[in-house]
Amino acid sequence: MAFPINRPRRLRTSPTIRHMVRETALTPHDFILPLFVVEDSGTGFKKPIKSMPGCYHLSPDMAAQMAKEAYSVGVQAVLLFGLPTKKDSQGSSAWAKDGGVQQAVRAIKDVRSEICVICDTCLCEYTDHGHCGVLRGETVDNDATLELLAKTAVSQAQAGADMVAPSDMMDGRVGAIRQGLDDAGFLDTPIMSYAAKFASSFYGPFREATDCAPAFGDRKTYQMDPGNSREAMREIALDIEEGADIIIVKPALPYLDIIKSTRDSFLLPVAAYQVSGEYAQIKGAAAIGLVDEVSNMMESLTSIKRAGADMIITYFAINAAKVLVDQMTSCADIRM
Ligand code: PBG
Repeated sequence: MAFPINRPRRLRTSPTIRHMVRETALTPHDFILPLFVVEDSGTGFKKPIKSMPGCYHLSPDMAAQMAKEAYSVGVQAVLLFGLPTKKDSQGSSAWAKDGGVQQAVRAIKDVRSEICVICDTCLCEYTDHGHCGVLRGETVDNDATLELLAKTAVSQAQAGADMVAPSDMMDGRVGAIRQGLDDAGFLDTPIMSYAAKFASSFYGPFREATDCAPAFGDRKTYQMDPGNSREAMREIALDIEEGADIIIVKPALPYLDIIKSTRDSFLLPVAAYQVSGEYAQIKGAAAIGLVDEVSNMMESLTSIKRAGADMIITYFAINAAKVLVDQMTSCADIRM
């Protein structure tokens, strides 16, 4: 008896009705913009990243300009990654008081203190072997790495970071970082934990951008196997027990089911990371005319939010926010 009484098409007859019944709508506040800061790059430095069209290597002052531009279209948060001048076996530039990231935090806070500055807490961009922790022989030494991660998080908080985001996938790192921050007096600095981070081929363009591909082996002994969703829930539960405040699922689009189960199983805010490979695929396909970039961008971001993400870390943040701001403006024009 459903048809002809029920006609779902009635609610799709005009753009206005479609907007009224839309269940998932993006806003610029959903987005977090990743930025790449180059140490010792002086001022005014802004160089395009080949593997990630539309993204840049930046000096701290230019990172601040970019953060300000993002803020002007409603993107309130940035996530900082660093490219150090020198790498060593421990990744000691990660916690340098005057490191590129630490300088950028201060520069952004000087430009606009309201911007939420999140620092990625990991060693892989800083180690000469490219792994996310220190080595013992050819294995990554979990427990020896914890202290270094905690040190890094404290130096980021000391520079003025509003949150730290550990992305290394060592066991126990959230607890170690919480302890480190608390001991240093940063009781109110939240930890946004990459709790469910998969060993993904979608990180390729980022590794080229930050020169952090492992010199040998891969990250499969610490990042999760793509086939595992129960294990993702276990990782998240452990991070919450250790004191995580926000959970990150990464990558996003190929892992929408994980975002959805995280949303259904836990109470904390959930962030999803639309990673470099997801971004580069859309950019690349659009560049040769196979898809429409703006529609692909908005649809992928909407899907990630629909799956349950409260926040989306995305290289599209500024462009997507501009699209949303334009939509609101044209709506306002119509009303007048
Ligand atoms: C560092 C880190 C990586 C990404 C974020 N933090 C690379 C990796 O784990 O290999 C990837 C982000 C992206 O691809 O956009 N651990």
